[in-house]
Order: sequence, then C-alpha cells, then structure tokens
Amino acid sequence: MKKITLAEKEYLDEAVKRFLAARNRVALTGAGISVESGIDDFRSPGGLWSKYSPDEYATLDVFRRNPEKAWRLYRELGKGLVGKKPNGAHHVLARLEKQGLLRGVVTQNIDNLHQDAGSSVVLEIHGDHKHLQCISCGDLVTLGADILTDQQVPRCSHCDQALKPNVVLFGENVRHLEEINALLHGCDVLLVIGTSANVYPAAALPLQVKGQGGSIFAFNLEETDLTKTTGNYGSTSDYFFQGSASALLEMLAKEVGV
Ligand code: APR
Repeated sequence: MKKITLAEKEYLDEAVKRFLAARNRVALTGAGISVESGIDDFRSPGGLWSKYSPDEYATLDVFRRNPEKAWRLYRELGKGLVGKKPNGAHHVLARLEKQGLLRGVVTQNIDNLHQDAGSSVVLEIHGDHKHLQCISCGDLVTLGADILTDQQVPRCSHCDQALKPNVVLFGENVRHLEEINALLHGCDVLLVIGTSANVYPAAALPLQVKGQGGSIFAFNLEETDLTKTTGNYGSTSDYFFQGSASALLEMLAKEVGV
C-alpha cells in the first residue's frame, strides 16, 4: 500500500470519522470499478467509445434502423465480459454490506461483478448483460455464450423481432429509479467509485444526496465533474481519493475494520 503523508492521513481520518458517523451509506459505481477485473471502461484512452462511437452504435435508434451494425458493438461488449471476476473493490463493498456498513449499490455497470462478489442489494440502473430483450413484445431470454460468436442477429421466438442485450441504450429510459430513490432516501454518505459522473440521470444522484445534506466520497483515477471545483463553487464531492479503486477501497476497509 502506498505510503501516505501526514496531511493525507489526517484527511483520511476525517473522512473515516464521517463515514462511521453516518447512518445510511450507499455506493454508486461506474465502469472504473471493473477496469482492474480486465473490463475496459468507456471514456478513458482506449476505452470502448474510442473504438465504437456511441452515437453511431449505442443508441436505440441505431438498433431499430440497423440491428446488424448495433450487434457489432454488443458482441465486443459481451466478449469483454466473459470470464471476468470481481476485484478487491467489489469485494470491499460486499463486505461493507455484510457488516451493515452499506445499504446497497447503485451500479451503472452491466457486468454482474457486484453480485458475483456477494453484494445482495444491487440496482442496475443501465440494465444487465445476462439477458436479451425483445423491445416489441418485452420478452427476456437468457444470453447464451453462442450468441456472441454467432454472426446472425438473434431474433425473438415470439414475434421474430431483433433482440438486443437487456442494457439501456442511449435514448432509452433507465431502470429501477423508484427503488434507487427509496435506497437513497435518508442517505447521508454516498461512495462514488470509478465513474466520470457525466451520464444522466445517474450523474444527478450525488447532487440528490448532497441536496439532502449527505456527504459525497469520490474514488477515481482522475478528476471528474464531481471532484472539480467550478468558479466560486467548491466541488460536489466532500472527499476525493485519487487512484485505483481496489487500492483505495481496501485502504478504507482497513481503516473501518472490515
Ligand atoms: N480505479 C478507479 N477509477 C478508474 C479506474 C480504476 N482502476 N480505471 C478507470 N477509472 C475511472 C476513469 O478515470 C473514469 O473517470 O473510471 C471512470 C470511468 O468513466 P466512464 O468510462 O465514463 O464510465 P462510466 O462513468 O461508468 O460511464 C457511464 O456511460 O457509456 C455509458 O452506459 C455507459 O454506464 C455507462 C455510462
């Protein structure tokens, strides 16, 4: 573990005190938490959006007009998830939940790694990659591994429409907003981990918690809209720990004794 300065230790101690004094802690995660599991994020150099422009491949409109093209992205996305395992950051969140120090996780990820790490309250705001969805009859089918190698666009067995992964495409409504609002009700500490925090409505959740008097803890490799100070306004985050998600969460876990 990286040696930290006295100032950093005092900052950490203050954050840990705030964390332990909280009554209702929730985590919001993004693609950055799964990078150390070998899954590329979207907007970092070499990220998925540097290979597939989201406007060209990842909108509902593209799927409707040209499912063959859209499936080129879905196959790459799907292959990138096969065989991936949760890392230390996922495991810390599962342990915090088991110890009653975390109510649950709101994740933008579709990789199921929080559940694989043992987290039980996981709200997938952008859907999941375990199922295929028929946007015509609403049917959901389990995603078979062969789908990712087959060059044919999978079709619905009921209405023969093209199927898409059960993920939220740009231009589609997100999922579980009611349960997410219920989970965030009274939340006074939000851990925001591995997200560029600029895709809405997920990116509005830290402001929602801040608006109800809660504190925002950001853990990220780089500064984001959440951690940057804008003009005379301080940052939305109250604490910002810059670095690898697994190293930072393991540091927090050590400090809070889980
Ligand atoms: N540890 C901590 N942070 C990391 C790590 C790491 N090992 N690796 C990358 N990051 C940070 C990056 O610096 C970046 O700020 O994680 C963030 C990932 O940001 P994005 O790639 O924009 O991913 P995310 O915020 O989850 O995107 C939100 O946008 O593309 C859509 O639906 C997609 O759910 C996704 C949403």
